[in-house]
Order: sequence, then C-alpha cells, then structure tokens
Amino acid sequence: MRCDQTAAWKALQAHADTFKSFDLRSAFEQDPQRVSRLSVSAPHVLADLSKNHTDPVTEALLIELARQTGLAAHRDAMFRGEPINNTENRAVMHWLLRQPEATQSGELVAPLQQVHDTLEPMLAFAEQVRADAQITDVVNIGIGGSDLGPQMAVLALHDFVTPGKRFHFVSNVDGHELAGVLQGLKAEKTLFLIASKTFTTLDTMTNARSALAWFRAQGGTDVARHFAALTTNVAAANEFGITTTFGFWDWVGGRYSLWSAIGLPVAMAIGAQGFRDLLAGAHAMDQHFQSAPLEANLPVRMGLLDVWYRNFMHYTSRSIAPYHSALRRVPAYLQQLEMESNGKRVDRNGHALPYDTAPVLWGEPGTNGQHAYFQMLHQGTDVVPVEFIAVKKPTHSLKDHHELLLANVIAQAQALMLGQADQGGHKHFPGNRPSTFLLLDELTPASLGALIALQEHRVFVSGSIWGINSFDQWGVELGKVLAKDIHARIVTGNMSGLDASTAALLNKVR
Ligand code: F6P
Repeated sequence: MRCDQTAAWKALQAHADTFKSFDLRSAFEQDPQRVSRLSVSAPHVLADLSKNHTDPVTEALLIELARQTGLAAHRDAMFRGEPINNTENRAVMHWLLRQPEATQSGELVAPLQQVHDTLEPMLAFAEQVRADAQITDVVNIGIGGSDLGPQMAVLALHDFVTPGKRFHFVSNVDGHELAGVLQGLKAEKTLFLIASKTFTTLDTMTNARSALAWFRAQGGTDVARHFAALTTNVAAANEFGITTTFGFWDWVGGRYSLWSAIGLPVAMAIGAQGFRDLLAGAHAMDQHFQSAPLEANLPVRMGLLDVWYRNFMHYTSRSIAPYHSALRRVPAYLQQLEMESNGKRVDRNGHALPYDTAPVLWGEPGTNGQHAYFQMLHQGTDVVPVEFIAVKKPTHSLKDHHELLLANVIAQAQALMLGQADQGGHKHFPGNRPSTFLLLDELTPASLGALIALQEHRVFVSGSIWGINSFDQWGVELGKVLAKDIHARIVTGNMSGLDASTAALLNKVR
C-alpha cells in the first residue's frame, strides 16, 4: 500500500500536529531512558539517535509504517535477487558482491560463483600491480559511481595505503582536470583504469581517449600493461583497444558498485586482504539489515527517521559532518547515493507522488564546517538535521589533536541541542536542533564497509517507504541528450529552433 494511504501515515500526520511544541531538552528531562532507548548498535557502528525530534509515539508509529508498507518483504525480495529495479527489469544485488563463497542456494549460486570467479583475478591483479615497482601512478578515469566510491574509499583508508604508489582520480570532462594530472606523469610508470559500468559515458570516454592519445604520444606502446577497463561492457572496452578487463553485471547499480571491479583502485591501494575486510564489514551490515528486528535495525531506524523528517517535520536537507579528515569525500559520495536513488517524483509505476522524497544532502568535514556554515545550523531560520560521524581511535600520535577533535564534535551536537538563552538576541541560540551521532571505534576497511552499507540500506528503507524505484536514474538522461545537440551546434554554429536564452549563451561562448 502506498505510504500515505496507510493508517500509520495518517496517525503520524496527526502526531506531527501535536509535535510542534516538542523540545529535546524536556524530552531528556522526562525520559531518563532516552539515551539507552535511542542508542542502536550495528556491526562496527554505534548510533546515538537520542538528539532527534522523535518521541516513543513517533518511533512506534514509524515502525508501524514500515510494517504497513511491507518494508521487510521488499527488503527480502532484494535479497532473493528479484528484479525490484522494475523500470530496467533488473535485480539489485550489490550485496551479493560482499557475500562469502558458497553461502547461497538456488538461483543465486551461479551469480555468486561469478562474483568470486571475478574477484579472485581482480585481487591477484591488484597484488601484481602493488608489487610492480615500475608502476608508480594509478589513474582512475570514471565518473559518478565509477569515481566517487573508489575515491572516497582510497582517501578514507589512507592509513592502510601502502606507500610507493600515487592514486589519481579524473572524473570531469573538463580537460583542466586530466591535463593537470597528466602533467606530472610518465607513460611507462602509469597505469590507467578506465572505470565505466556502461563504457559509453561521454565524460569518461572523452578522458579515456585523451589518456590513450597522451600515452601513445609519450612513446607508450604496451596498452595491455598500462590500461585496464572495469566495466559490464567488456565488448566495448575491447573495441576501444583495451584487452585487460575486469567485469561486473547489470544488477550492480553504478552508485552501488564500489564492491565490484570498480573497487580495483581500492584493492590496489590497501591490498587484497584489506579489500576483503571492506567486503566483510559491508556483509556484516547486510546481515544486520536482514535479520535484526525492525526496532533494533539501524538502517531501518535511520531510513524511517529520514521519512519522518522529510514528510512530517518538512526538513528539506540533511548536513553530513564527518569528524575525520579522511572521510572528506563521504558527503559527495552520499549525495549521489541518496539523491540519485531517491530524488524521484513518481512511484514505481510512474504515477506522480503527492509527498516529498529525497532531501538535499550536503556537508564538509568537521571542524572545517564549524568555521563556515555551522552559523546557519545554530542560528539560521531553517532546521537542518546534522549527521555527525566520529571515530574513537586516531591512527596518528600527535598530542592533543584527537581529544580536541572529539571534544568539538560532541560540543557541536550538544550546542545544537541545548542552545543558549540571551535576551539581546544576537547571542541567542534556540537549541532544540536535531542531530544523529554515528561512532566508529576505528576507521578500518571493515568499519568503512559497514558504514557505507549502512548508508546504502537506509536509502533503501526511505525509498521503499516512499514506493519509488531507488535503483534507476532517468533524471540524468535529458541533460546528456541535450549536451550532444548543443555540442554539435557549438561546432557548426547552427542556432535554428533554439530557445532564445540558450541561443544567446551559445553565441557568447562560440
Ligand atoms: O549519469 C549518471 C550515471 O549513469 C551514474 O548513475 C553513474 O554512476 C555514472 O553516470 C557513470 O556511469 P558509468 O559507470 O556507466 O560510466
């Protein structure tokens, strides 16, 4: 049943009306159990949800909403490999990429076998390149899911990266990016990874062609040694001239592809065992998502909170604040994950929805954000739920830094909640501003895997409640088609049939 037609939705609406006077400070005073009630443990991640705008009635009604919309059945359909990506008639099985061998039965035995038959050579290749002192630079050319996941993970796992190799990520069709990277490289010391699920993406193909031309112009001849393709479209990669290929399957969405061959740069950076640990951490979160009761299921609780905030509290955005500089690309990664998955205005059958879906996600690592836009979070007119991510143990030994960092992240959550009274106005902090606090013990391949799988599943949960297909992305297509047309017009100068504004801009850039 569509979420807004359920009894739980209507009850949540009525509850939200009475919720206007909710205040976090009184909620804590009235309920000494609030912290323990709203602390949820999942593999590698402890979540403190207590500073959110919910009370026991909200929490119970949200679980009811999950029941009435059939969330568990939908989740189980995904884990059975059913084609829940209905607009493309595809299964959604990124989770299978992190399953240990021989854990499936029935129809999933064959795909799981393929996963491991591909993973082993990929990891062997990663180790071979790691041992190859002649290769000093690895350049990943890819965009969207073929860039953000591996880039985010290589940065996040910096402490696990074996020294001796530099990793570069080129995504933008803007030639300044590729030109800047190529400037410092030598053809005989460089390995290019052309990462593209479809092997048709204009940005990536343009960069790949230029990289190949540069390689040849530098005197490079051994393309098989210096270029590898990571793609579901091996035939297109071969046609392009690349014979070293690592494949994956159409049931892996681009923004869910970190765990596939698209993760090759990560495996090269942290080694085969590190990559296996990343997969194992994500798998542990998959198991939690599949088996924990809804009330104790962290992706479920977070996804339901997202629905409450969007549809009942009408918050339009969420700010991501990772208090660990290595997690600096996590906000960008999550933007694609959530906004490309759930930024939809129609249901699975294409019918327009009368309620809001994905919020805007944005953020920067703390403490940087504190000295930039946190002013607005504390005293602006909009309420923006903040998601803090903190790591208990540092890997550096610099004195005082980590205590100060942790003090800052905790203080920010506290300040948002408590606020500060001031008669004069300017120094008044209203407080009662919501936040979630995610705590990892350490930042390791396994804990990163769990954190990312948690985010994937929470996006699944809100998308499922909203009744949308979280696994297609038709909204990116129109721009691609129009760019082709405009590119031709830039070349030819033909303005016929164009709207006045576009024609004027074209004339200016020609
Ligand atoms: O244009 C959007 C998109 O299709 C994303 O969904 C995807 O991650 C990205 O482009 C890159 O696609 P590909 O890996 O096929 O080059």
